[in-house]
Amino acid sequence: MDARDLVRSVKVIGSARGRRTVRAAWRRERVDAAGLPRSGPERARVPGLAEGAEPQPGGGVVRFARSSLRVRVAAGGAVFCGWDGATPEPSYALAGSCPEVDQRAFLEPDTEDGWRVVSERVTVTVSRHGAVAVRTPGGVVLRRELPPRWWEPAAGPVEGAPPRWTQRSVVAPDARCFGLGGRSAGPRLRSGTYRLWNTDPGGAFEPPDDPLYLTMPVQLVVADAGSHLIFHDNTWDGAVTLREGVEGEGSGHDRPGRCEVRMEGGPLRYWVIVGTPARVLHSWAQLTGAPALPPPWALGYHHARWGFGSEREVRRVVAGYLERGLPLSAVHLDIDHYDGHRVFTVDRERFPDLPRLAADLADDGVRLVSIVDPAVKAEPGDPVYDAGVAAGAFVRDGSGREVRGEVWPGESAFPDFTDPRVRAWWGEWYAERLAQGFAGVWHDMNEPVSFAAFGDPTLPLSARHALEGRGGDHREAHNVYGLAMARAGYEALRELRPEQRPFLFSRSGWAGLQRYGGTWSGDVSTGWPGLRASLALVLGLGLCGVPYSGPDVGGFTGSPSPELYLRWFQLASYLPLFRTHAAITAGRREPWEFGPEVLEHARAALHERQRLAPYFLTLAHLAHRTGAPYVRPLWWRWPRDRALRDCEDAFLLGDSLLVAPVLEPGVRQRTVRLPRGRWYDQATGQAYEGPGRIVVDAPLSRVPVLVRAGSVVPVVGERGETELEVWAPMVGRTGGGVLISETGDGWEEPTEVRFTTRMRGERVAVEREGPEDVKYAMRVRGEAVGLVTP
Ligand code: GLC
Repeated sequence: MDARDLVRSVKVIGSARGRRTVRAAWRRERVDAAGLPRSGPERARVPGLAEGAEPQPGGGVVRFARSSLRVRVAAGGAVFCGWDGATPEPSYALAGSCPEVDQRAFLEPDTEDGWRVVSERVTVTVSRHGAVAVRTPGGVVLRRELPPRWWEPAAGPVEGAPPRWTQRSVVAPDARCFGLGGRSAGPRLRSGTYRLWNTDPGGAFEPPDDPLYLTMPVQLVVADAGSHLIFHDNTWDGAVTLREGVEGEGSGHDRPGRCEVRMEGGPLRYWVIVGTPARVLHSWAQLTGAPALPPPWALGYHHARWGFGSEREVRRVVAGYLERGLPLSAVHLDIDHYDGHRVFTVDRERFPDLPRLAADLADDGVRLVSIVDPAVKAEPGDPVYDAGVAAGAFVRDGSGREVRGEVWPGESAFPDFTDPRVRAWWGEWYAERLAQGFAGVWHDMNEPVSFAAFGDPTLPLSARHALEGRGGDHREAHNVYGLAMARAGYEALRELRPEQRPFLFSRSGWAGLQRYGGTWSGDVSTGWPGLRASLALVLGLGLCGVPYSGPDVGGFTGSPSPELYLRWFQLASYLPLFRTHAAITAGRREPWEFGPEVLEHARAALHERQRLAPYFLTLAHLAHRTGAPYVRPLWWRWPRDRALRDCEDAFLLGDSLLVAPVLEPGVRQRTVRLPRGRWYDQATGQAYEGPGRIVVDAPLSRVPVLVRAGSVVPVVGERGETELEVWAPMVGRTGGGVLISETGDGWEEPTEVRFTTRMRGERVAVEREGPEDVKYAMRVRGEAVGLVTP
């Protein structure tokens, strides 16, 4: 027990829940004392010298004295490296089956030393000692992996005690690293150690608290020489230690960037994808699955609240939005609408008729979303519990006893989502949610959490899991618990309501979560640092392939000042998930609770969000097709611009908009770092030439937004029809945009129209490609006198 644990347990001991969390923590320790294998003394192993190599389709295997390395290039250009016989499958990250191999890639002796696998996008060389270099087709080294090192039981293999391993690597001195899931101190990952273990920080978090709910071993590395993504496909507990490099400014004292990945078990296997950020994310989505397409309403504004407390209060809040003409898309009900916090139940005293409530809200265009927690109250007589026991659905310990934890409903059991049978069983319960009128689900507490007065607030590490039939324990299953729960929920919704696209977002997850839905910040603490972390999380997750996310507007805890609330609201109005939410003990979050001035500015943000609806929907479709996140770092198209790599206070929304939120109090003007090209201040129309820094107004009424010259931005016009805002391109340059539109929230093929813009004299010429019968009004903005449409 460390000092923090001690404070935690003293704080909780006073209450009944507190006493139960002490018991739960002791129970977890006891289970592990009996159930975790003891490995004894260890010895280190390195691959040793190479003894030969054998070509195989897409690459080959190099044999070393004490290991082997498989290198295989997949059809999309991603390279797989697996030590000690590791193969790409089985994997929780991969979408379906392993991609085909690139038949043109082959292994051959390297001219200098060792072997190399040459493919169109990348060359991998393997030295005789087992060092691996990843190079661009031009031969520039992007990453050099040193020979790995394993630690294994000295007396020979012990069941349940797989080797631990470390892999060190070196990147260019100028390289910047992003990703590793949701990190509060990001998006740029500075020197430090980042643990890979999904964790509820308890209470609320603020930067640099780490780790948080959704970690994953995915790093996007951006350097002058090129960008690459590296993914260690291993779900075990581990850590990545980064040391950013330093450039000696010509003094010859460059220090390269360093990275060390350390895992407590599991295979040493990884994928590397080389290319521009856009190509890398596209290949990543091919490998791990296309981001689920949210229904259009999920791109509107949501109001959530822990502690609505009654149907009457929900109606009051919704009426508050409607009376004031504030657009509202969805309302989220938290655990207080459950009966005694039990999942798949309703407190009928406070929420007497949910289907009716849902229908009434639907008349006003408002959807209901339900929280779904995995923990099931362990009480005979509870229908979910009884059914789970009968189905053998709950996680057990090594001696076959059901594992119990402490969550909102009290003592709870945990479905084993790594068992396909259990996923199907769990999914059937979503019928109950649909019958109550819910349009979507919000998965929570799925790291999974079991409150503990000390130690790790999760299940015992020795708890058994099916792991798709292979069998294993919580050390391997923990990080994919939320991912597997998301799969259960998504597949259930598809089956139960096949005509509509599921809406699901989940607090925890892992590589591949995007196949099933999005995520959110979790319990970000109310304060300016929390606001900054909100943006960091969305950017970092997007670069790991999970493009749909957003924060609790106003922060989860306490009461934001009117200014902080407004700046949070303005930032989130440009993020994919735009949702206010707060803890039961927190202050109000309705925009009208912060005075008339905030209300007016929040109204403007809501209307702008609504005006940009066609643009957001287009971005959702593009994310689905190409893996490109809606919200991108400024360097997305300009990865060689070093100043942009370090810029963390602004972002690109799609190809056209640059949003510069206000992240500090009292700011009414701010500097914005512009990428190359011409950018127009959306509010004033003033043109600026990048690259460089500019100072723009950031009054309380809005945050600065710049529009890239040449853009075609689809918006909702005054009469409610989609129209195009055409921003004049630079003379001699072309610009453009795309509009992807649909009428429903199902699976119909959407309509796609592409536009190209160029200056013709003082007018903007717009060419289009796509179905001829779709017509839009166009408005020209920027430095042009009018439009010509050939
Ligand atoms: C967790 C969630 C939060 C939710 C609360 C009660 O703290 O992160 O969003 O309101 O649980 O369900």
